[in-house]
Amino acid sequence: MNNIRHFIEPGDFTIEEYDEIFRLADDIIQTPEKYLDVCKGKLLASLFFEPSTRTRFSFESAMLRLGGQVVGFSDPSGSSAAKGETLVDTVRTVENYADIAVMRHPKEGAPKLASKSMTTMPIINAGDGGHLHPTQTLTDLLTIRHYKNRFDDLVIGVCGDLKFGRTIHSLVRAMSRYENVKFLFISPQELKMPDYIKDQLDKSQYTETSDLQSVIGELDILYMSRVQRERFVSEEEYLKLKDFFILDNYKMKSAKQDMIVMHPLPRINEIATEVDKDERAVYFQQTKFGMYVRMALIMTLLEVEVQ
Ligand code: NCD
Repeated sequence: MNNIRHFIEPGDFTIEEYDEIFRLADDIIQTPEKYLDVCKGKLLASLFFEPSTRTRFSFESAMLRLGGQVVGFSDPSGSSAAKGETLVDTVRTVENYADIAVMRHPKEGAPKLASKSMTTMPIINAGDGGHLHPTQTLTDLLTIRHYKNRFDDLVIGVCGDLKFGRTIHSLVRAMSRYENVKFLFISPQELKMPDYIKDQLDKSQYTETSDLQSVIGELDILYMSRVQRERFVSEEEYLKLKDFFILDNYKMKSAKQDMIVMHPLPRINEIATEVDKDERAVYFQQTKFGMYVRMALIMTLLEVEVQ
């Protein structure tokens, strides 16, 4: 029926396609002037049903830097969603105006549902509830490629809210496709990695612990995350867990000299600001990779090339 490509979950692209996106992102970083007009006449709809800083700004900047234009909302209270319009009706309408849409939604599966009713417009999942966030994963992988120069043979500690952290779920799915990648899932008992993510891994691929200090020395990458307050039913439970892990300079002393610290941001308390000065802390550089990789993604889904 329709064969438009969407980007809803990390597995929607093969490893080889990821490599192509990363090569394109590299070229955009090196020679941005070649790309100034490639999306001229194209319109990106930016549909943010949940708050965002980096994801929305980087997508909108990406489209503008490719010579395209942007329409949309950053708060659904300004759209007909506030009147009770269904998501499917909203996106079917948007499809009449825009060439591509990026959507963040509090409900797991919402971008996938929306994509099923599309006939011309690719949809990009910019985060669906506590489920997945595949474009953060592209950002994370481009960062890993830059600092580690490989995706194989890595020990990756993911720390914090593994239950609700969609960036983590996506990262684990994507990185588990490479050779000899071992995960250390570091969280309090209440915020453990959900079974539906663990079930896709071999038992030998991961270890679970609640003690960051005792494992930090083994890691090539430490991926920190905030406790996802908005997904908690009880504020009391959130308050109990919010400061469970704090990465500080003292803990960093036990880490390898070439370990990198990543974080999708926003950071709340989980990384002390003193760590920002450590050259192993790459989370602000990570945000810049996010824009370039989203430029490459938009070009790929719109099938546009440099003339
Ligand atoms: C993340 C998200 O929205 O899931 N932020 C982001 O996109 N960089 C992480 C978070 O909100 O904790």
